[in-house]
Amino acid sequence: MPRIVPSTIRPPEGPIEVRPAVTGDAGALHALMDGIYQEDAWFVGDGPPDVRTLAGKIRSLDPSRAMLLVAEMHPGRAYHELIGWIEVRRLGYRRVEHVATLTLAVAARARRRGVGRMLLRAVEPWARRVGVLKLRLDVRAGNEAAIALYEAEGFEREGVERGLVRDEAGFEDNLIYGKFLTPEVTGEPDR
Ligand SMILES: CC(C)(COP(=O)(O)OP(=O)(O)OC[C@H]1O[C@@H](n2cnc3c(N)ncnc32)[C@H](O)[C@@H]1OP(=O)(O)O)[C@@H](O)C(=O)NCCC(=O)NCCS
Repeated sequence: MPRIVPSTIRPPEGPIEVRPAVTGDAGALHALMDGIYQEDAWFVGDGPPDVRTLAGKIRSLDPSRAMLLVAEMHPGRAYHELIGWIEVRRLGYRRVEHVATLTLAVAARARRRGVGRMLLRAVEPWARRVGVLKLRLDVRAGNEAAIALYEAEGFEREGVERGLVRDEAGFEDNLIYGKFLTPEVTGEPDR
């Protein structure tokens, strides 16, 4: 698969490359995910998969169904570092497989430098190539940064699930966002 090398974004700390994850990334990816889970504000899961499970997941990824990209700072250098990832997966049934759902995150120290945008944009060529017509995602209503990013990148709010998330702070809504990669398709079927 070709490497996706951004030409426009070069944060002060060095170049960033967005590329498909390889099994050797599993340890660093686990550590990155663990840091995000420890912030305890963005995801609803209990924690990241362990390193072995992650490696297995990367190894068994079917590129016609799913994609896992990582953002790496200082690629090719001894001090290279994973600073973000995006996972996108087509829904499983024939009637909905034109839709793919995505999750992404950027390490806290690397935020607001265009990495999230870079990851989000990098999935679209893959999506179009495999026949995905629409991207969708869930985001917690209090996640202002993510909502701002999605709206800036053309995602529209399509729904609200009231009180889906519950933690020590109380209940939080889940928002559903979507973006068509082709002219929007909507409405009742003709039958
Ligand atoms: C959401 C997240 C992925 C954004 O990544 P990022 O690399 O910081 O975002 P970018 O720098 O690419 O921002 C692109 C645009 O998104 C918007 N944006 C991003 N962060 C923002 C913030 N904190 N406040 C307001 N707007 C923000 C802006 O429009 C920004 O463009 P600009 O910097 O030119 O104004 C990152 O904050 C993150 O990982 N959060 C924790 C995990 C998470 O919430 N994942 C998503 C779960 S649904």
